[in-house]
Amino acid sequence: MFSLPNNVTIIEVGPRDGLQNEKNQVSTETKLEFIHSLQDAGIQEMEITSFVSPKWVPQMADSSQIVQLSSKKGRQIVLTPNEKGIERALEVGADSLAVFVGVSNTFNLKNINKSTEQSMQDLKPVITKLKEQGIFIRACISTAFYCPYEGKINEADTIALCKEFASWGVDELSVADTIGMANPVESYQLFSKLAELLPNVLMTAHFHDTRKMGLANIFAALQAGITRFDTSAGGLGGCPFAPGATGNVATEDVVNMLHTMNIETGIDLNQLCKAVSIIDPHVSRPIDTGMYRLFAINHS
Ligand code: HMG
Ligand code: MG
Repeated sequence: MFSLPNNVTIIEVGPRDGLQNEKNQVSTETKLEFIHSLQDAGIQEMEITSFVSPKWVPQMADSSQIVQLSSKKGRQIVLTPNEKGIERALEVGADSLAVFVGVSNTFNLKNINKSTEQSMQDLKPVITKLKEQGIFIRACISTAFYCPYEGKINEADTIALCKEFASWGVDELSVADTIGMANPVESYQLFSKLAELLPNVLMTAHFHDTRKMGLANIFAALQAGITRFDTSAGGLGGCPFAPGATGNVATEDVVNMLHTMNIETGIDLNQLCKAVSIIDPHVSRPIDTGMYRLFAINHS
């Protein structure tokens, strides 16, 4: 029989991964309403914004206001690409930072204008110092399975990067299928190895749903012992520097799958769909996830 946990933690990435690629300019007020309604649904950990260059990602230009004006409920994580981003985030009181590096060197250059090796050299002293200050560090490993430029990624390279971050004392690794190409066998294989090799770090799986394999990949990762998943309300998202990538696997569909298998998440599905209905009129892409569609039919 399947090996399933009793509880799973959802890390909501909609306000960051979900909106960074959005064509419409979403107002700060709407973003805050979205964040607060997600908190009301029971989300305890959330990526709320990113301190990246507004020239590269205009949707995230209001990151300081988002941190200053959002309710401090649970863990609020902000993405930071470099020291300047870290400084800006700390200045407004952020205490949980996500750094991100691609296993693929080409992707890393396109995403943050640095080689993977340079990123790791630069991050090591910075993370050591941040850990001394008690900052929560989440390290996002992009292109852990496939790269839009380099193709299939060598599993050993992904594992080596994860091990290096873990050796610096990061709190969490979020291992990402950036362009949604991994299949459940690949998900099971990588996450089984990571869970066994790095038992002392919070291990999170981040699946984009480009080929609609997100739920199957999550089910496979559950079998590998993973109990933490990044998901995006409404299935929004995608990296502007990863061509062909669509949104993350939808929070409401993941929560529904888990609850029907008697796995607790602490999230109220109806309230979660209300949160999706707040952002729905403001995004250019139609939201058509399974559970949101049902919610919309029941509320029409
Ligand atoms: P750059 O152009 O190489 O930066 O960009 P630079 O160091 O040469 O500086 C150029 C100018 O940018 C300077 O200003 C800096 O001060 C400024 P100027 O002197 O010209 O007026 N600058 C900044 N401004 C604000 N915030 C900063 C910052 N840094 C420099 N942090 C940079 C390098 C990293 C900034 C740029 O490439 C960038 O912002 N990249 C972010 C890309 C991004 O947001 N990608 C999406 C997030 S990652 C993702 O989605 C993947 C994930 O979901 C997991 C997965 O699915 O794989 C996490
Ligand atoms: Mg992502």
